[in-house]
Amino acid sequence: MRTLLTTCFTIGCLLLALIGCQNEIAIKTAQYSVNGQKVYITHCQNCHGEKGEGLGNLYPPLTDTKFLENNRQKLACIVKYGSTGELEVAGRKFNNTMPASNLSSIDIAYVLTYINTKINKGKEIFPLDEVEKQLKNCK
Ligand code: HEC
Repeated sequence: MRTLLTTCFTIGCLLLALIGCQNEIAIKTAQYSVNGQKVYITHCQNCHGEKGEGLGNLYPPLTDTKFLENNRQKLACIVKYGSTGELEVAGRKFNNTMPASNLSSIDIAYVLTYINTKINKGKEIFPLDEVEKQLKNCK
C-alpha cells in the first residue's frame, strides 16, 4: 500500500512538473507574440498587410506556411537585412526589394513568433538563440 502511494505521489509530481513546464513555454510564446504584434504593426504591416495577406504582386503574403518552413533558416536574415530578387510565395512569383529593418535580435524573434502563431495558426515560438545563430551566417 505504501509503495503504491509513493509511486502515485511520484507520478503525480512528475505530471505536475511537466504541465508546469509546458505552461511556461506557452506563456513565453504568448509574450513573444504580443511584443511581436507591436513590431509587426510598426515595421511590417504597411507592406505585408494587417493579416499578412500581402499586396498584389508587389508584396508577398506571410501566410504561405510551406515557404516559411522551407526557408526557416533564412527568415531572420530576410527580416534584418531585407531581400531582393525572385521569390516564389503562395504559388506566385515576386521580384521586388524588401528594405533592411535593422531590428534587434529580440525584436526579430518577437515578430517571427507573431507570424508563426497569430498570422498563421502555429504554436511554435521562434527563439532568440535561433535568430542569433542565423544572423551570424547571413549571405
Ligand atoms: C517596404 C515594404 C516591406 C516592408 C516594410 C517589409 N517587407 Fe517583407 N518583403 C517585402 C518584399 C517586396 C518582399 C519580397 C522580396 C523579394 O522579391 O526578394 C518581402 C519578403 C518577405 C519575406 C519572405 C517572403 C514571404 O512573404 O514569406 C518575409 C518572411 C518578410 N518579407 C517578412 C517581413 C517582416 C517580418 C517585416 C517587418 C519587420 C517586413 N517583411 C517588412 C516588402 C516589405
